[in-house]
Amino acid sequence: MHKVIYDTDPGVDDAMALLFLHRHPEIDLIGITTVFGNASVETTTRNALFLKREWSIAAPVAKGASVTIDPSRAEREWPAMVHGDNGLGDIEVPEKIDVALDPRPAHRFIIDTVRANPGEVRLVAVGRMTNLARALKEDPEIAGLVKDVVIMGGNFYVPGNVSPVAEANIHGDPEAADIVMTAPWKVAVIALDVTSITTMSRSYLGEMAAKGDEAVKLLDALSQSYIDFYKHAVEDGMMVHDSCAAVYVVAPELFSSISGAVRVVCGGIADGQTIIKPDGRRFPPGDWDGLPSQIICTGIESEKVIDLIRKALLRV
Ligand code: BDR
Ligand code: CA
Repeated sequence: MHKVIYDTDPGVDDAMALLFLHRHPEIDLIGITTVFGNASVETTTRNALFLKREWSIAAPVAKGASVTIDPSRAEREWPAMVHGDNGLGDIEVPEKIDVALDPRPAHRFIIDTVRANPGEVRLVAVGRMTNLARALKEDPEIAGLVKDVVIMGGNFYVPGNVSPVAEANIHGDPEAADIVMTAPWKVAVIALDVTSITTMSRSYLGEMAAKGDEAVKLLDALSQSYIDFYKHAVEDGMMVHDSCAAVYVVAPELFSSISGAVRVVCGGIADGQTIIKPDGRRFPPGDWDGLPSQIICTGIESEKVIDLIRKALLRV
């Protein structure tokens, strides 16, 4: 069993990945931590509690960061045109959900849970990296105690999605992402290089909903406006960014990768750009030297990934 803490900003594609992590038989979802990003942290936390309740997820929810790790960074607007004003495609979600939150802030929940399960926890982070960076700042030793970190974020050999060079999760808190990429733990980066070519069509999701239970029907409903948003890039379908990271947990063989030290540009016109120094390439001394080598996924078997998502969601 893979013990997973899911750090997320639900978020439409976050919701699909959550249902995958909840339903996959080899995954033990032991915690959900929330972060701001697709909406405010109040909204993403409310959404996580809503999905926990609707989908009968046992894992506790801990509320996380509401601002970047460097609080002097200017706030940006929420991406309402992508995920809706309420972060879940503007389906009806009650203002308040009568489900208790874990009393700890997300970064503390991460530290405690990692320390209670040394060498076992896999952190799957699909929002801004602020909670992970906070956890590392407060307790750097956890880097040696987690099994690995799987993140959805960044772009290496393809353009970004919020600027020509930056992806939303990294651009939303570049300093935090740089802390996470350069810490002495094992990070697998599931970037736009692979997530932007992994799409699910409206009809495929609709067929799943027709066969599936209420949980899949809810997922189908909340995904509709996100699919509408993607019409500039996908033919009547959506990129399933966060689910790619969730799938990597159980099926890394569906990905090809390179390795190397990764840095994140913090500031200027390339704010949030992720840059790898591939292992084996020689350069004069520079800012990538002496840093851990991370895994960067550059290839993906998209059809198999989509099929794996369908099987887990439909429990077939
Ligand atoms: C990432 O940004 C968010 O909009 C999605 O949930 C995903 O985590 C894609 O760039
Ligand atoms: Ca996300």
